[in-house]
Amino acid sequence: MLIHSASQLLTLAGGPQRGHDLGKLGIIEKGAVVVRDEKIVAVGTTDELKNAYPDEPTLDAGNCVLMPGFVDPHTHLIWAGDRANEFSMKMGGMAYLDILAAGGGIISTVKATRTASMESLIAQTRPRLLRMFSHGTTTAEAKTGYGLQTATELRLLKALLALDDESPVDIVPTFLGAHAIAPEYKDNPQGYTDEVNNTMLPMLKEWWETHAPRLPLPFVDVFCENKAFDLEQSRQVLSKAKSLGFPLKIHADEFDNLGGASLAVELGAASADHLVKTSDADIAALGKSETVAVSLPCTPFGLAECQYTPARKLIEADAIFALATDCNPGTTWNESMQFVIALACRTMKLTPAEAIAATTINSAYAIRRADTIGSVEVGKQADMLILSVPDYRQLGYRYGTNLVKQVIKRGRVYSVDVGYYRTA
Ligand code: NIG
Ligand code: FE
Repeated sequence: MLIHSASQLLTLAGGPQRGHDLGKLGIIEKGAVVVRDEKIVAVGTTDELKNAYPDEPTLDAGNCVLMPGFVDPHTHLIWAGDRANEFSMKMGGMAYLDILAAGGGIISTVKATRTASMESLIAQTRPRLLRMFSHGTTTAEAKTGYGLQTATELRLLKALLALDDESPVDIVPTFLGAHAIAPEYKDNPQGYTDEVNNTMLPMLKEWWETHAPRLPLPFVDVFCENKAFDLEQSRQVLSKAKSLGFPLKIHADEFDNLGGASLAVELGAASADHLVKTSDADIAALGKSETVAVSLPCTPFGLAECQYTPARKLIEADAIFALATDCNPGTTWNESMQFVIALACRTMKLTPAEAIAATTINSAYAIRRADTIGSVEVGKQADMLILSVPDYRQLGYRYGTNLVKQVIKRGRVYSVDVGYYRTA
């Protein structure tokens, strides 16, 4: 298939973009792409590719933007129930971590998730995943973490693998057994940390090698935060995971600076995420590393807080900067990377070009998939978007509505229906 007549083809070619290289879109005006067998086989101008591939079936991009699909590298996609009641409490003045300490927050979603069957979990998660897809996310990382006990954590992983199979979105799973202290260990956080390290992680490794041997091992993540896992416990979890061969991620500096970002660098984690209260020393460490700095601006927005990731400082320090939704029932229930871009531009002073690189090639690198997705280059998976607008700067500028017209996933074209009425 020849996709032609794109006003701007954003290739994002050349690999992850560090520091001030962020925002190099690699634009081809009047661009075109040839796709065969789920892969991109040619990239160029419409004139060039129409000449070189005269007999190829065509898809007219209609003088609109053609770009890589969004890669969302941090979501808590799978859970049961909702926490609309807590949103009211938070807007009434109660703090997120105080609700958690009182047995609400993550723990209330854990209670709902533990009692939900596999079928119910899949049925509740599917619409979120499809909303992500229709807003342009072609690959999403998805964390467990609402089980906090072996059997439920495993059920969440299995449900994620089933959703990956049935949906067009590729799901990259992460094990987040260390998301909160399980209620059974309420007054014994070290006891639960030991349970994660001595029981859950070895079990996960064995299960994975038996049941999903062809898939890469999932990431292992930890919520390094006061009232969750302290720096030492986070180190224990990530070190154990590393010794078993798992790639690593961390939730760091969402509310307090405990040093989690530097720990991530030290252990060679793929990313350190949130990074709101990050110290200058942590920023410098990230800047010298391959650990991607993943910012989640919807989270402070969702909590009605005023402080955001020091993105300009991270870029200045030469870090590899990426963006994600953090979609979850507690702090931010949002499926759209377009909204993340709009928020990132305003709250962290990114340009639309920088935010686009942070949601495609750099976010692909945050889940260590930049060799196959995140840009429009020959040999990569054919995951692309046709927007309904002719200029990429409309992304971020406009928000709250969907600018994606068509999603191309592994070479298949999906149309996003917008703006029509049907009468009975
Ligand atoms: O990334 N910080 C920990 N986890 C989520 C919130 C999860 C929840 O509240 O259910 C986050 O913000
Ligand atoms: Fe998170």
